[in-house]
Amino acid sequence: MTGSATPRDSWATTLGFFLAAVGSAVGLGNMWRFSYVASQGGGAAFVLLYLLVVAAVGIPLMTSEFVVGRLSQQSPAVALRRLAGPRWAPLGWMFVFCGFGILSYYSVIAGWTMRYAVDAVRNAIPSDTGAYFGTVSAGADALVAHVLFLIMTIFIVARGIKAGLERANLVLMPLLFLILLALALWALTLPGGAAGYAYYLRPDVEKLFNRDVLADGAGQAFFSLSLGMGAMMTYASYLRSKSNLAFEATRIALTDFGVAFVAGLIVFPVIFNFGLQGQIAESTVGALFIALPKGFEQLGRLGDFVDTAFFVMLFFAALTSSISLLEVVVSAVVDRFGWPRPRAAVACGIGAGLLGIPSAYNTNILGAADQVVGNFLLIVGGFFICMLVGYRVYGQADAELGQGLAHAAARRAWGAFVRFIAPAILLFVLYSALPATWQAVRVLLGLG
Ligand code: TRP
Repeated sequence: MTGSATPRDSWATTLGFFLAAVGSAVGLGNMWRFSYVASQGGGAAFVLLYLLVVAAVGIPLMTSEFVVGRLSQQSPAVALRRLAGPRWAPLGWMFVFCGFGILSYYSVIAGWTMRYAVDAVRNAIPSDTGAYFGTVSAGADALVAHVLFLIMTIFIVARGIKAGLERANLVLMPLLFLILLALALWALTLPGGAAGYAYYLRPDVEKLFNRDVLADGAGQAFFSLSLGMGAMMTYASYLRSKSNLAFEATRIALTDFGVAFVAGLIVFPVIFNFGLQGQIAESTVGALFIALPKGFEQLGRLGDFVDTAFFVMLFFAALTSSISLLEVVVSAVVDRFGWPRPRAAVACGIGAGLLGIPSAYNTNILGAADQVVGNFLLIVGGFFICMLVGYRVYGQADAELGQGLAHAAARRAWGAFVRFIAPAILLFVLYSALPATWQAVRVLLGLG
């Protein structure tokens, strides 16, 4: 299939695949963005709405990506042309473009978390966390961390699926779950935490009738589940076992939601316990990188421990997501041009490093790139995946899903979601995202 004599690499176990997919989904998006969007969008009422979007769009679309990946056993960049003809080839290359684009700025933020984790271990986070964040987040410091983080990502991806990605996720994800649980239990003991839980989850049903809230929730679900750019498709292309893909998608999506939800149960009690509410109004990143370390500091020696755990967890979450971003690009180069994997990993990693330089120097550019690629293009990609799977190759896709899901009614339901319900929701979200995207394009072009 790759045109070479060596067989294509694959996951050794279903658990390995599951943890890798969860590793891709659980990232910086879960740790802060979910709880922020939820608290603004109606608290507990929003959480229910979010779960509905995950069920109506997230799970059917993840299932679709899995189906195409396992069916083709190839990088999306090659697979779409073979499965659906040359007119679909550009979609595969758009995925590669998105992989590059997201990785370029995601690794800048990941670089901040790495720097924080290292400084937390060394006990060297200064008490003026605002000024510290300013130094760390833009300029030469940010660039150095960005490059170091990419080198680690390249190293893992270069080693391949079994020896690189699977092994890394097998170690890092359970550690992440452990740290997350320990931190959530600790947050329960904070005397002033109750106000934080209330702020996070106070059910505000009225907010739900605001259309921006639905659009935000859908966008968040999409980004958080790593959908719309072939990342899940690529991972499933290394899958041999004929397991039930709809079931896999469901448990991966629920795990991703669980992590996001629990992260909110840590962040808000800390913020309210230490009276840092003022700092969260201004910016979402600011809260994570400025308010939390300030709160941890007030704990004295215990705080040294807690902030290390927190930032190490954040760093793991970022690393397992960025390896999946680089993998999309690398698998395209390996499958299309036949390059050896290590060479492809180094070359693509350098490309993403260069592309990320503007984001490392200017957080406005970082934000604009996130809006255009991480928000808008992913939804465009998701819409076309629905069209591809729901119409162009529906028969083949349904048969592939049938390998492992015998239940005909469940497959028909999946078909209805992929063909009608998910595309309709995605068009609505796309439309709502247009003004912000146009503004961001102007920033990237240096006009606004
Ligand atoms: N899901 C990741 C997070 O929550 C970010 C992400 C979005 C992503 N799209 C992706 C990761 C595609 C890997 C592949 O932070």
